[in-house]
Amino acid sequence: MQEFIETKSEISIFETCFQTKLPLLLKGPTGCGKSHLVEYMAHKLKRPLVKVSCNEDTNSADLLGRFIIKNGDTVWQDGPIARALRSDAILYVDEIAEAREDVMVAIHPLTDFRREIYLDKTNEVLKASAQFMFVASFNPGYQSSLREMKPSTKQRFVALAMDYLSVEKEKEVLMKTSSIDESIAKKIAFLGKKIRESENFSLRETVSTRLLVHAAGLIQSGMNPRLACHIAIAEVLSDDRSIVEALKEFINLQI
Ligand SMILES: Nc1ncnc2c1ncn2[C@@H]1O[C@H](COP(=O)(O)OP(=O)(O)OP(=O)(O)O)[C@@H](O)[C@H]1O
Ligand SMILES: [Mg+2]
Repeated sequence: MQEFIETKSEISIFETCFQTKLPLLLKGPTGCGKSHLVEYMAHKLKRPLVKVSCNEDTNSADLLGRFIIKNGDTVWQDGPIARALRSDAILYVDEIAEAREDVMVAIHPLTDFRREIYLDKTNEVLKASAQFMFVASFNPGYQSSLREMKPSTKQRFVALAMDYLSVEKEKEVLMKTSSIDESIAKKIAFLGKKIRESENFSLRETVSTRLLVHAAGLIQSGMNPRLACHIAIAEVLSDDRSIVEALKEFINLQI
């Protein structure tokens, strides 16, 4: 398991929430390390991890479970929340704000002092053990999302704001995820910082650590570093040719 590089005690905050049975909300832009933190912590705390991603069609049956027809019989099939509760797992609900209102209502008793859910279809109450943890993620700047989390949902969580790393930390991530030299890792991390700081590219979302990791991986496999950054960063950040060309020129100056 690849290590998680801390910037503000994310590991101990996560551990304390686990011990105190508080649900944790990770807020931050795409590719800043939210999923990686959860995967790393599940490994560190030796808990199974159940992940589920929400979109605008996600309803409570998708998460709790439903009756299905199997070999001619009607059988109950647990959804990810029920599975996580039964296996004392860490449950990671990605993009929670996208889910429908009935999902929020269903998770409320799980995210407050009750720590349980009621499966009305099977008339069963599932109680969370001390080992169960609820973690959700939310990308507040995601512009295509019109949804906001309601205060009655949000105020059940402890919130940890995550952001892109400093050049030093991002360089460390690049060197840990690929075996590129320090000098090229530093250049890519610095390029990330420069693109983030620049207001010239009018990007919907700026360059994430994920894209820098992709570029480093291509370089490690022998690709020319400029080409790697063109295809892993410039072409991904925009589809507007003039912006892509401007990004490529900017990359050529840095790399
Ligand atoms: N602090 C960090 N330590 C180690 N690796 C990191 C860190 N932050 C980001 N990464 C790396 O960046 C990449 C993207 O991270 P991740 O998938 O966790 O992003 P995310 O926040 O979950 O994004 P999304 O909102 O799109 O799901 C991964 O390859 C991860 O290894
Ligand atoms: Mg993620």
